[in-house]
Amino acid sequence: ALRGSFASKAQKSSQRSQHHLNPQASYKVAILGAAGGIGQPLALLIKMSPLVSALHLYDIANVKGVAADLSHCNTPSKVLDFTGASELADSLKAVNVVVIPAGVPRKPGMTRDDLFNINANIVKTLVEAVADNCPDAFIHIISNPVNSTVPIAAEVLKQKGVYNPKKLFGVTTLDVVRANTFVAQKKNLKLIDVDVPVVGGHAGITILPLLSKTKPSISFSDEEVQELTARIQNAGTEVVEAKAGAGSATLSMAYGAARFVESSLRALDGDGDVYECTFVQSDLTELPFFASRVKIGKNGVEAIISSDLQGLSEYEKKALEALKPELKASIEKGIAFAQKQP
Ligand code: NAI
Repeated sequence: ALRGSFASKAQKSSQRSQHHLNPQASYKVAILGAAGGIGQPLALLIKMSPLVSALHLYDIANVKGVAADLSHCNTPSKVLDFTGASELADSLKAVNVVVIPAGVPRKPGMTRDDLFNINANIVKTLVEAVADNCPDAFIHIISNPVNSTVPIAAEVLKQKGVYNPKKLFGVTTLDVVRANTFVAQKKNLKLIDVDVPVVGGHAGITILPLLSKTKPSISFSDEEVQELTARIQNAGTEVVEAKAGAGSATLSMAYGAARFVESSLRALDGDGDVYECTFVQSDLTELPFFASRVKIGKNGVEAIISSDLQGLSEYEKKALEALKPELKASIEKGIAFAQKQP
């Protein structure tokens, strides 16, 4: 069903191997924050995946109805609901992939960093439970500010003695989805053909689309580069303003997150050709975390693709240097938060 619908043509060529995949694949996926604006459509998309045997929906409220509703879809996965802190541990037992979109979204005029105080605590609590109940799972962090919440998650996992940097991912797929869409529109290309790597982080100028590395290879005028880069960086704000107080991107985000889940499941299932951009612990730059294309395998990140950062345009080189101080500060803010906690 879903397999393939998320992928660009470039990625699809890698899926020719899919007939090798186990037809009885059965992975358990938990969504923490499942009743929210992202959580609900994300649950629906994951419910359509043939690779999932059980979908665990956790939230502090309103999750029973979402699960009852979703459970009537006649796709293979079983849907279970878990409400409130007392059911959090059970929601995580034997889970292979945990997706975390819990937290508050932006309202007009807010930056992602304005969400820090609330979401930092939520992510900390949830990741502690992940560490205690399914330390071996892939962890996908959606809650903003991702540039800080991923370092927080890493520190929490370290404190619990179970940190595996290969299995902690900040979800930046939406930046790639947006870049692909906007470039295809601008250049009149078939959407399915376009793949733009996006590196750096997930907020404002830390989002750096590498237009010079677009597949298929196309050239952009300086003006186009500036305009497209700014639009990709501000696309989230475009949605926040259009929703005028009703939240931030949820449907396109769910689409991006579902693509990342599906890629992770294919990797777990033995597909040897899975690549996604994601914000991970990284040695690509001097920063401890950095988003780039990575190869994902059964054990998580198998390789960080360094070639994307070679042969950058002058514009991209400058933008890369310009984003580093902000990204560094956001990472350090996350680490400091997690370390000062009792
Ligand atoms: P929402 O407010 O619609 O949903 C959040 C859900 O989290 C609610 O159902 C709420 O009950 C739940 N929640 C709150 N505290 C919780 C806790 N302690 N445990 C479990 N669940 C809890 O928000 P929406 O629109 O779904 O956004 C969620 C997050 O995703 C926000 O932080 C937003 O900034 C972020 N986001 C990230 C993007 C990315 O590209 N990584 C893109 C768009 C949004």
